[in-house]
Amino acid sequence: MKVLALNSSARTGDVSKTEIVLDYLIQGMREAGAEVEVIELRRKKIRYCIGCFTCWTKTPGTCIHKDDMTREILPKYLDSDLAILATPLFHYTVNALMKTYIERTLPIALPFFEKRDGVTKHPFRYETPPVVVLSVAGFPEESVFDALKFYVNFMFGNERLAAEIYRTSAEMISRSSTGKKISDIREALIQGGRELIQSKKISPETMDRIKKPITTFEEMAPLGNLMWQTCIDEGFTMGEAQKSGLIPRPDSIDTFLTLMKFSFKANKASDAKLTIQFNFSGQATGECYFLIENGNFKTGLGKMNNPDLIIESPFEVWMDIMTKKADGQKMFMERKYTVQGDIAALLRIREFFGN
Ligand SMILES: Cc1cc2nc3c(=O)[nH]c(=O)nc-3n(C[C@H](O)[C@H](O)[C@H](O)COP(=O)(O)O)c2cc1C
Repeated sequence: MKVLALNSSARTGDVSKTEIVLDYLIQGMREAGAEVEVIELRRKKIRYCIGCFTCWTKTPGTCIHKDDMTREILPKYLDSDLAILATPLFHYTVNALMKTYIERTLPIALPFFEKRDGVTKHPFRYETPPVVVLSVAGFPEESVFDALKFYVNFMFGNERLAAEIYRTSAEMISRSSTGKKISDIREALIQGGRELIQSKKISPETMDRIKKPITTFEEMAPLGNLMWQTCIDEGFTMGEAQKSGLIPRPDSIDTFLTLMKFSFKANKASDAKLTIQFNFSGQATGECYFLIENGNFKTGLGKMNNPDLIIESPFEVWMDIMTKKADGQKMFMERKYTVQGDIAALLRIREFFGN
């Protein structure tokens, strides 16, 4: 089976979530024996449709433009057994590059009018492949895709849409994520790719796993806002922040705990049992604690009984250390913060939470 995947993301590599999600789907397709070609539309020259209708009249089926769309993309699309349209969600719909591609498929249609499914449509000039629509969005609610769903269903109809893959909270997906939720989504996408080749559809069970919520607004917004604020303060783009491993800087005890929950590496703490008390002064005065036990991580506000480790620090000093603006050991020597209890446990914090 010949599959053509058209990827309209403006980004690539580890920062492009469209590419990551598409790659997993393709991995499954290849495993199931498909021959898959990916065309990154951003590398191609595709001019805008100028609405001249030359492709319907003077040169039936052939566009007036001579560019990569005419020479390469449209012939490959028509020659494929299955096409994937992979697009980031921009302002609730396909991005401009995907829309430009879609508009340039006009030569596929005949000019005449016919009634299909009770509405006016144009008949096809050529046989066209079934289509998989894949899109990724930053927001966590599935309803963010409502307009796109309506659009692609209207355009392709049930009979031409093999599958619709909509991935919310996509910015939380990375190739290196080891968390259970992301790993299961990765496996489900690979499985979805296999199923598409085997039966030209994705089973409801696999689709449920692909779409499974990663986060909620309540979980995502504090951390996301912290990351944006840190980018603004440091003068970083989001891409630069990801590449350089910029650590969001908490501005309150609440956001500190949210960030620590997000960063906790359960697999590194499977045999650990440790309680840590933080007594902060300065910018955010107050107490909070961590409970780490058998790969689980809990946090709380206030004081706990008999912690293994008590850290007393001005909030801003601890945040400087956490965001690598200050050296933890040097700050300790200079008594900028103090530690009581199991000092060896201090060294394990980096292991449990990464950098
Ligand atoms: C111009 C622009 C518009 C966007 N519009 C939306 C949107 O309407 N809803 C949403 O959830 N995310 C939106 N996003 C976020 C993207 O969908 C998200 O960052 C996605 O991962 C981009 O795909 P990429 O990683 O392949 O670049 C938008 C991003 C940009 C740059």
